[in-house]
Amino acid sequence: MLKDVFVTEEEIAAQFAIAAQIKATIGSGKTAFISTFGCQQNEADSERLMGLCALMGYGKATELESADLIIFNTCAIREHAELKVLSKAGALRKLKEQNRGLITAVCGCMAEQSHRRDKFLNSYPYIDFIFGTDRLHLLPQMVANVLAGKKQQVYVSGLPHDKFGVIAEGLPVVRESGYKAWVSIMYGCNNFCTYCVVPHVRGRERSRRSADVLAEIEALVKAGYKDITLLGQNVNSYKGEYSFPELLARAADFDGEYWLRFMTSHPKDASRELVDVMAANPRIAPHFHLPMQSGDNRILRLMNRRYTREQYMEKAAYIKEKVEGIALSSDIICGYPTETEEEFDRTVDAVDKVGFDMLFTFVYSPRPGTPAAEMEQVDHKVKTDRFARLSALENKRAEELNARFLGKKLRVLSDGGVGGIFKGRTGHNKIISFTLPDGAEDSVAEAGKFVTVEVTNTAAYTLDGVMVKD
Ligand code: 5AD
Ligand code: SF4
Repeated sequence: MLKDVFVTEEEIAAQFAIAAQIKATIGSGKTAFISTFGCQQNEADSERLMGLCALMGYGKATELESADLIIFNTCAIREHAELKVLSKAGALRKLKEQNRGLITAVCGCMAEQSHRRDKFLNSYPYIDFIFGTDRLHLLPQMVANVLAGKKQQVYVSGLPHDKFGVIAEGLPVVRESGYKAWVSIMYGCNNFCTYCVVPHVRGRERSRRSADVLAEIEALVKAGYKDITLLGQNVNSYKGEYSFPELLARAADFDGEYWLRFMTSHPKDASRELVDVMAANPRIAPHFHLPMQSGDNRILRLMNRRYTREQYMEKAAYIKEKVEGIALSSDIICGYPTETEEEFDRTVDAVDKVGFDMLFTFVYSPRPGTPAAEMEQVDHKVKTDRFARLSALENKRAEELNARFLGKKLRVLSDGGVGGIFKGRTGHNKIISFTLPDGAEDSVAEAGKFVTVEVTNTAAYTLDGVMVKD
C-alpha cells in the first residue's frame, strides 16, 4: 500500500531534465518569488518549490515586484486566509502588464477547491497555471509549458479525493533559515473534523519512509541545523516502518546539540509512549501543541473529534506531570455551529483549568463542502464576543504561567541581535529578548547559536533576560 503513493524516480528524473533545459533557455539573472500563506506545511512546500526554481535557474527574488516567476502558495483554512490571497493576487495583473515575460502561478490548498479554481481562471486570467498540493514536483513541466505558450494550465489531483495523494522524494530544498528546518514526515489527513477543509484539499494520510525521514534529519544535524520540526497534520498517526514515538526517539539520537519539535498532534492519537519519549530525551523540545478545539462534549462530538473533554484533560495532565515545566499550547474554535453560551463557558473553563502557555483562538469560518457549513450557524457578533472573552482569559493565564520562568536559566537558540538587544526562542518556544554580559562580543550570540539566558522579567508572551555563562 505504501509503495504506490511514491512518485517514481523516473518521473522525478524527467522533471530534473526539464528543469535543466529551462535553465539553459532562460539564461542567467532570472529570479523567483514565492508568497506563502497558511501553515508550516505550506512553508515546507514552498522551500521545495524554491529548490525546483533553483534547478530551473531562478535565483531568489527579494521582492515580488522584481521577480520573473511568482508563485502564490495558498491556504484555505478560514475565509480570511482566502480573501487575503484573492486581494493580493490582483496585483499580478499590473506586474504582468509591466513585464510580458512574467510567469505567475497559484498553488496550495485553495487550488484544490473547484470553486476557488474557477474564480482564479475566470477573474484572474493573467495567472498562467494552477496546481494542487501534491503536484509540486511537476513545477518544471508547468513552467516549460508556459514558455511554450500554454495558458491557464490546471494541474490538480484527481477527483474523487480518495484517489489522490502522492509523495515525491528527492526534491531539492532551498531552506529559508540556516538553522531552523521543517521536515514533513507525512501528508494529508484522515480525520474529517466536520469544520475542516484539510482532508478535502490535502487528501488521504500517507507517510514517508522512516529511513528517508531519518536520513534528512541526520543530514540537517550534520549541516548545523539546530531546531528541526517534524510536520504532519496528525503526526501521531504516522505509519512508516516505525511508530511516531519510535521515529522521534531515533531522530533525537544523532550527535550534536539540537532541538526536535513536532506539529500537530490529534489528542485521540497522542500516546503516553510519546510523552515518555519526550520526558526521556532532552533533545526533544519541551513544547506540546495539542489542539482542544472545544471543552464541551456535545460540540466535540459534532466536530467528530473522537475524544471527550475529560480524556483531553487527562492527557494534558499526564504531559504536564511527565515533562516538567513543559509548555502546552492549543487551538480553540469559537462559535462552532449551534454552540450555546453554556457550552462555550465550558470551553473557557477547560482552558482556564488546563493552563495553556499559548492559545490560538479562531472564529469559526464555514468551509464549503464540510458538514459544519450546513449546520445552523452562530451569529457573527456572538462568535467575535466569545473570541474576545477567551483571548482575555488566555492573556491572563499566559502571564501567570510565564512567571514560572522568572530567575531561571534557560537554553536559548539565538535569532541574532541589533543594537545590543538579542532575540531568540527557548525550548518551550517562547520568544525571549536578552542582552549580553559586559564586554562580550556580539558573535557569541549570533543567529543560530545556543546560549544560556537568565530570565529577569516575564510578560504574557515574552521573556527578557541576560546571557550568562553556560
Ligand atoms: N474555522 C475556524 N477555525 C478553523 N480551524 C480549522 N478549520 C477551521 C474553521 N473552519 C482551526 C482549528 C485548527 C487550526 C489549524 O485552525 O483550530 O486546529
Ligand atoms: Fe491552510 Fe490547512 Fe492548507 Fe495548511 S493545510 S495551508 S492550514 S488549509
